[in-house]
Amino acid sequence: QELELKLEMLEKGGFDHFMLKEIYEQPRSIKDCMRGRIYPEEGKVQLGGIKEFAEKLKNIDRIIIVACGTSWHAGLVGEYLIEEYARIPVEVEYASEFRYRNPIITEKDVVIAISQSGETADTMAAIEMAKERGATIFGICNVAGASIPRLTHAGVYTHAGPEIGVASTKAFTAQVTVLTLMAFYMAQQKGTITTSKLIELLTELDHIPEKIQVALESNDLVKEVAEKIKDSTNCLFLGRGSGFPVALEGALKLKEISYIHAEGYPAAEMKHGPIALIDEEMPVVFIATQNSSYEKVISNIQEVKARKGKVIAIVTQGDTEVKKMADYCIEIPDAKEAFLPLLATIPLQLLSYHIAVMRGCNVDQPRNLAKSVTVE
Ligand code: AGP
Repeated sequence: QELELKLEMLEKGGFDHFMLKEIYEQPRSIKDCMRGRIYPEEGKVQLGGIKEFAEKLKNIDRIIIVACGTSWHAGLVGEYLIEEYARIPVEVEYASEFRYRNPIITEKDVVIAISQSGETADTMAAIEMAKERGATIFGICNVAGASIPRLTHAGVYTHAGPEIGVASTKAFTAQVTVLTLMAFYMAQQKGTITTSKLIELLTELDHIPEKIQVALESNDLVKEVAEKIKDSTNCLFLGRGSGFPVALEGALKLKEISYIHAEGYPAAEMKHGPIALIDEEMPVVFIATQNSSYEKVISNIQEVKARKGKVIAIVTQGDTEVKKMADYCIEIPDAKEAFLPLLATIPLQLLSYHIAVMRGCNVDQPRNLAKSVTVE
């Protein structure tokens, strides 16, 4: 038994849990995901896996993204990026809803299925249905040779390495990275982006792993915040734009591993209902980085503070405005809006991790959950 324990410690690379190890692997996993795919100096993206559909991408009218759980959240980030850069309309669907509807799918459609495991039953059924109706199916998977990569016409692997923790961390940021590359690739094919703009974006993307390393340095501070809110029974996560899927993902992580009821909302929707929940017992986590929605988020923070809610804000390094209002501020490095989800996710992963550990939960294998959901 002692040997078994030692072996497990070794597998965890000195970390207490696989989840923490996987959180810390992200600078490397994202680098692996981009390797051989981006050429910042030339302003070029190469995605060998979908190369044979390069011509088709010039003329598509619509993309449908199908996925479940965390992968669905990555899909929402993908929608934001593809619409912004490639100017192709995107719909993001829960695979489990899509497959039981009678969706309109044509031969002109491209369906992108996202799945870490490549074995999720609902996502597989959605692919089969779209395929029967003539759509072209791309996969974004982590596990090589799994069922989904075999079902799709083409695809791009995330190369995040094996993810053991049931709560997805490094697979999520790798999925977002692939979707970022796909958005730029499609933009390149469609001519909706200039080479100089691509040079600028890819140069910054190339340095995102280092910025993630910096974001990880907030760990001690995040632990202190975790200590303050660990006994809460509810928690709200709010963000706008690409910060909204980050809020959803932050809430899912917290409920999965700490069993605290958490909800993610677009910050502007708060006034249409969730604001009624806010009192001194309610922690509200804001994605409040300096981007196009910064001022709007600040007014949402003021609304929460006026009702005595506890505000935890993820802010850009050097921020002074939010610091005046929030109870706790966690800084992440500055980045273009496109790359914000990759950075803002890091402290939220750490926050749910520490809260779960403090509550004595089984972080790597939360109750009632399996790593891949192969039932319908
Ligand atoms: C993530 O933390 C979850 N455990 C879960 O939502 C997961 O993302 C979902 O089941 C989809 O899995 P897949 O990516 O393997 O298809």
